[in-house]
Amino acid sequence: STNVQLTYHLLLDHYSSPRNVGSMDKTLNDVGTGLVGAPACGDVMKLQIKVDPETDTISDVKFKTFGCGSAIASSSYLTELVRGMTLEDAGKIRNTEIARELCLPPVKLHCSMLAEDAIKSAISNYYTKNPKAASTDLGGT
Ligand code: FES
Ligand code: FES
Repeated sequence: STNVQLTYHLLLDHYSSPRNVGSMDKTLNDVGTGLVGAPACGDVMKLQIKVDPETDTISDVKFKTFGCGSAIASSSYLTELVRGMTLEDAGKIRNTEIARELCLPPVKLHCSMLAEDAIKSAISNYYTKNPKAASTDLGGT
């Protein structure tokens, strides 16, 4: 159907011109870095978020993926999705959501899992560096 073609186009578009490729200084306190690998294939993804501590929102995001086209498209799509999101909302993104948007076939589901793992890992790295932000988000003082 036309819809499937459009969505397939989205996958190819993110694969051939990925958004937000690059890296940030991981020693900065407001940068969270996630580095994850896919056990199924050995592909690796690095995702970094810059967080505005006032609002706990993601103000910038960069990625580098050493892997297949679906993993590159998944991470590119994810970077556009999470920009401007709160850490809480970004932590709730599921790989099935990404796979559905990009029309990934079942055999490529683990590629979108890499993107979910990467954003979770970046958030948790940010919280490790900023324990105060973590306690505030969890309803503490
Ligand atoms: Fe072939 Fe990931 S297994 S690119
Ligand atoms: Fe392994 Fe895509 S084939 S991440």
